[in-house]
Amino acid sequence: MKNVYIGEILRNEEIAQDCFLMRVALHVSFIDPRPGQFVMLRVSGLAEPLLSRPFSVCSFERQNRSCSLDLFYHVIGRGTQILAGLLKGTQVEILGPLGRGFEVAGHKKNIVLLGGGMGMAPLIYLAMQLNKDACSSSSAMYFYLGAQNAEAVIGLEQLKKLSFTIFTCTDDGSMGEKGLVTQIFLKDLKKFVPGETMIYACGPKPMLSALAKILQKTKYPCQVSLEERMACGIGACLGCAVAVKRSKKSSLAYKRVCADGPVFDINEIVWK
Ligand SMILES: Cc1cc2nc3c(=O)[nH]c(=O)nc-3n(C[C@H](O)[C@H](O)[C@H](O)COP(=O)(O)OP(=O)(O)OC[C@H]3O[C@@H](n4cnc5c(N)ncnc54)[C@H](O)[C@@H]3O)c2cc1C
Ligand code: FES
Repeated sequence: MKNVYIGEILRNEEIAQDCFLMRVALHVSFIDPRPGQFVMLRVSGLAEPLLSRPFSVCSFERQNRSCSLDLFYHVIGRGTQILAGLLKGTQVEILGPLGRGFEVAGHKKNIVLLGGGMGMAPLIYLAMQLNKDACSSSSAMYFYLGAQNAEAVIGLEQLKKLSFTIFTCTDDGSMGEKGLVTQIFLKDLKKFVPGETMIYACGPKPMLSALAKILQKTKYPCQVSLEERMACGIGACLGCAVAVKRSKKSSLAYKRVCADGPVFDINEIVWK
């Protein structure tokens, strides 16, 4: 059973339209999260909303006697509206780190990350980890960052500090190239040799589904981080089930995004 930690908000600021960065100080015993892992968060002592909400770890820092966690969140409903109004010093309950993270393959010649919208959150933490590993390897790293418009772009400042070649694109062309992140990536696909490349992606389901279509008859390995509505976050309620392919052809199986994921091989998922 995972421990619930009481954290204290150090920062909670709007960094793009309806997108906030929350930094939470945690007890030193909090385990270092792996890229792709998430936490369940709720406000201490508040009855509403009843359930915790899942958020990906966007950054984590450890000092001698404390540690801190950064989360990026988009205000979409009641729970995130409440989070957006919290002040520095407020206590929050954090359960985690949870789930299976990304398998970090720093030894590949090419490492390609595709992030769309809030899908940037886990990829920023992954990019930081890959950047550390790349210092001792010869990987070339590429980041395809997509958003609806310039105001909705998040994570670019953090990425610019790392050794990635960055391609920015927006649906309306207000920043970078005009188009969907998957279309921009598709134009470059042939530059990357399948056996020498690892692809990581996170973003809205239509984006991941489009990527699955692009890669379906190829040999590129690709890990995707999925989002589903979650109640418990620890594999107990089955509320986050996602359809996966069975090894024996016809029938489907289900996996829990919280406990079996949220990171999956892109080919394992049944995309609708
Ligand atoms: C593993 C994981 C990691 C996540 N990481 C982040 C992150 O880093 N930043 C971030 O902003 N969000 C992230 N999310 C999504 C986030 O948990 C939801 O946006 C949040 O729970 C919404 O809470 P709410 O009370 O504001 O909205 P609610 O009132 O609960 O819902 C508002 C609307 O959003 C829809 N919705 C709620 N949750 C989801 C979901 N998970 N997927 C699709 N639609 C949903 C509902 O169906 C409803 O229409 C993550 C989700 C998962 C499962
Ligand atoms: S959220 Fe309960 S099993 Fe995944």
